[in-house]
Amino acid sequence: MRQSDLVTEDLLAQLRWLRGPDGTGAVRLAGRLQDDGVDLLPGLAKLRAEVGPEHAGPAWELARLRARARPVFGDDADVLMLTADTLEQAGRPELAARRAARLLAGGAASVADLGCAAGTDTVALARAGATVVAVDRDPVARALTAANVATLGLADRVQVLAADVVDLVDTARDGEVAGCAAAALDPARRAGGRRQLDPDRWSPPWSTVTALLDRVPATVVKVAPGLDHDRVPDGIEAEWVSVGGSIVEALLWGPGVSRTWRRATLVRGGVVLELTASADPGPAPVGPVRGWLHEPDPALIRSSLMSLVAADLGATLVDPTIAYLTSDAPADSPWVSSYRVAEVLPFNLKKLRALLRARGIGRVVVKKRGSPIEPQTLARQLKGPGTGSAVVVVTRVAGAPTVLVCEPLSG
Ligand SMILES: C[S@@+](CC[C@H](N)C(=O)[O-])C[C@H]1O[C@@H](n2cnc3c(N)ncnc32)[C@H](O)[C@@H]1O
Repeated sequence: MRQSDLVTEDLLAQLRWLRGPDGTGAVRLAGRLQDDGVDLLPGLAKLRAEVGPEHAGPAWELARLRARARPVFGDDADVLMLTADTLEQAGRPELAARRAARLLAGGAASVADLGCAAGTDTVALARAGATVVAVDRDPVARALTAANVATLGLADRVQVLAADVVDLVDTARDGEVAGCAAAALDPARRAGGRRQLDPDRWSPPWSTVTALLDRVPATVVKVAPGLDHDRVPDGIEAEWVSVGGSIVEALLWGPGVSRTWRRATLVRGGVVLELTASADPGPAPVGPVRGWLHEPDPALIRSSLMSLVAADLGATLVDPTIAYLTSDAPADSPWVSSYRVAEVLPFNLKKLRALLRARGIGRVVVKKRGSPIEPQTLARQLKGPGTGSAVVVVTRVAGAPTVLVCEPLSG
């Protein structure tokens, strides 16, 4: 047996124990100790005394992962089997549910979840009413998925399959893969703890992504938010989703479930807002800085739909290469945050500091686009005795390094 096989066998044995009555009790005890603020070493000592040295660490770790998962997964977190890797790879359940509902609205009843990890997408698909073939080449992932669907009462809807997704997609025929009329693919985009920026290095690689989109029309693929638009095949809708001002996922929808060219989706306080365009609307016009600066939501920027919002607001870009908009009025739009511009000056640290002192501004939040400065460092350098505050935006305006001193957002 190879070393890696031994590690896997060990992990699988631990998972079996953790799911049994003794393991369940140990994880519950670890959770109580952690909730009570007991530190790692005394916590482990207590657990060791209860369940022995070989089980104490895994029980502590699972309790810790469940606590980390709870804000996102709610009550499910208390019963999910997870590893640190699979928790990191798991998407948000409310977005997985939204994805599942849209995929199934195409009419498919069965979905292949290609690369299921701990099965959190599998769970969403099964809960949305699909029968699911959950595929992973990693035996630990398969064991986690099998355990999770069983615990959540979904085992009768899910078949867990050991297979290589590359082979399954290679042999996909008649719009089906692994016997399913729809597919969800979430390639691993990290290797050795590092993010893989090149889609050809994802697992499965980009060639499998495009082959799947080509062969199975009812497909959704999770991709890196930074994916180059040039990579998106014709006839494929690309969607960027932001929650709380950060992009949390980017999706490619196969031709059977594509509805538009690009979609920006913004989730705020449980409300979902969408902006779409059936063709490239082109860039927003460029103009001089006016009284208000608007910072677009990243989903709007990445989806190349900024010009739609700019047209609504009567706004222009401050520079053709920079995603800041400007207009004469604050914007009443969920797609941008507006700041009143108080000063515009060429970037010069000494002059900027003097100006802030003269205005009694001692605390600043620094934002930047198109500048190499490090925001936190600059914020420290600009700290002063004044009681006022400001938002300092370091950017390029008509090609020149420029600072915009803005009033902080109210509220
Ligand atoms: C990003 S994770 C999937 C996360 C999952 N969708 C979720 O929501 O939790 C990618 C998974 O694909 C699996 N994988 C990567 N390459 C594969 C391949 N060629 N065949 C089968 N599984 C693969 C990995 O083992 C990993 O579990």
